[in-house]
Amino acid sequence: MAGFFVWLVLSISHDLKLFENIVEEKEMSEKFDVIIIGAGPGGYVAAIRCAQLGLKTACVEKRKSLGGTCLNIGCIPSKALLSSSEKFEEAEHHFADIGIEVKPKLDLKKMMGFKTEVVEANTKGVEFLFKKNKVTRIEGAGEIVEAGKVSVDGTIYEAENIIIATGSDVVSLPGIEIDEERIVSSTGALELKEVPKSMVVIGGGVIGLELGTVYRRLGSKVTVVEYLDQILPGMDEEVHKESKKIFAKQGIDFKLGSKVTSAVATKKDVALKIEPAAGGDAETMVADIVLMAVGRKPYVEGLGLENVGVKLDERGRVEVDEFFETSVEGIYAIGDVIRGPMLAHKAEDEGVVLAEMLAGESGHIDYNCIPGVVYTWPEVANVGKTEAQLKEEGIKYNAGKFPFMANGRARAMGATEGFVKVLACAETDRVLGGHIVGPNAGDLIQEIVSVMEFEGTAEDIARTCHAHPTLTEVVKEAALAVHKRALHI
Ligand code: NAI
Repeated sequence: MAGFFVWLVLSISHDLKLFENIVEEKEMSEKFDVIIIGAGPGGYVAAIRCAQLGLKTACVEKRKSLGGTCLNIGCIPSKALLSSSEKFEEAEHHFADIGIEVKPKLDLKKMMGFKTEVVEANTKGVEFLFKKNKVTRIEGAGEIVEAGKVSVDGTIYEAENIIIATGSDVVSLPGIEIDEERIVSSTGALELKEVPKSMVVIGGGVIGLELGTVYRRLGSKVTVVEYLDQILPGMDEEVHKESKKIFAKQGIDFKLGSKVTSAVATKKDVALKIEPAAGGDAETMVADIVLMAVGRKPYVEGLGLENVGVKLDERGRVEVDEFFETSVEGIYAIGDVIRGPMLAHKAEDEGVVLAEMLAGESGHIDYNCIPGVVYTWPEVANVGKTEAQLKEEGIKYNAGKFPFMANGRARAMGATEGFVKVLACAETDRVLGGHIVGPNAGDLIQEIVSVMEFEGTAEDIARTCHAHPTLTEVVKEAALAVHKRALHI
């Protein structure tokens, strides 16, 4: 009997232990190595890389589809409309020049439908990648309740590390409300039901020029109101001038050095007041649609940063150190929500590097080698320093410039506007910057980016064989021009 009792106690305690283990295992299964909040290019790429490196990874996203602003309401849909509208304009105005007579008719609904298909294909692609890499997708808005704990609609998920990758949001001007009907942000501009007769774009930056170009091509009278005396702030001086000249020739009206002080929407249009930036008499304007494109702000609402004491900087960005760690241990941030250019590829690179550091590897980003591209036609692209920056920093440099006009392939394409400019250190010849206005500038810049990553020289580009006839020869000639020995000019 005593033996039976001992056996019973042992057996029960064994079962209890088993039970405890199961409970423990269940709790463990809720705990992740990394939870990423936000599934934009920064967040989803970080998630994939973390998972590839064997970290148990979850990604929280409140949107129904993955991919963030870029895939849903940013880069991808705008590029679909840019590509479609470019073809429409070609057919309408340029085909005849090369012997093709057509009269294109716009079906905006279908064009928008194609854009939606493109978005869906891309966001579904990220879903597939999450499954393939075994990233746990958690639907809902994530709030950090304490270091290591994220609440999603009341359910708590635990993780060793939390990555904030919540991106950015549209900003407006004081007193001007974006209704996404008459006064639209980039989001509303991607969904217009008809082509407006007139559109005022506030802000001559990337969004203003890309989406302004889409509607100009489709038939709108587009006016860009820009506060500064030049468009595309931050780009090289010659790029400002050349691109503005080209866009103006294409039909965009520019009001530079001007600010919109009020915009009042009615059911049928918007009444605007525009003043010189330096002050002076206001003029009035009426437009069917106003596009607000004066920049974006880091998106941190509802994240619970105040719960844990994550510090923001003076511009509302999450403060991080060189390892992307915030003021709270174990909480990291990447992408638009931290310092640096608000670019998808910058966020992606930060996601990869952070994932690798969390997995015990090391990583590095050279922020001087991050290209910027404006997807108009011609495209505008840059990397590294501008001439103004080099002068300001007292760095002696040589500049080599070559026009597309002197390139056989560009001529054959009927795309001869613009130039490539290579800036190289006067002492070492190391490439310090590249600036392009021209056909496929966004692809061409990549050669200069790679050479800069490898700390290469203008001579390196000039001595590299470039296929003929290609647009890449313009990059080579610009590099040759650094040493005043361009061949075809
Ligand atoms: P942005 O910073 O590129 O340009 C905003 C422009 O608005 C500036 O030129 C600024 O001087 C002007 N501005 C500011 N206040 C004004 C006022 N009161 N009146 C008139 N003009 C005023 O910002 P944008 O175009 O809104 O883009 C937001 C972010 O998204 C940027 O960081 C951009 O790099 C990124 N983005 C990148 C794309 C790409 O890589 N192709 C495409 C779209 C957006």
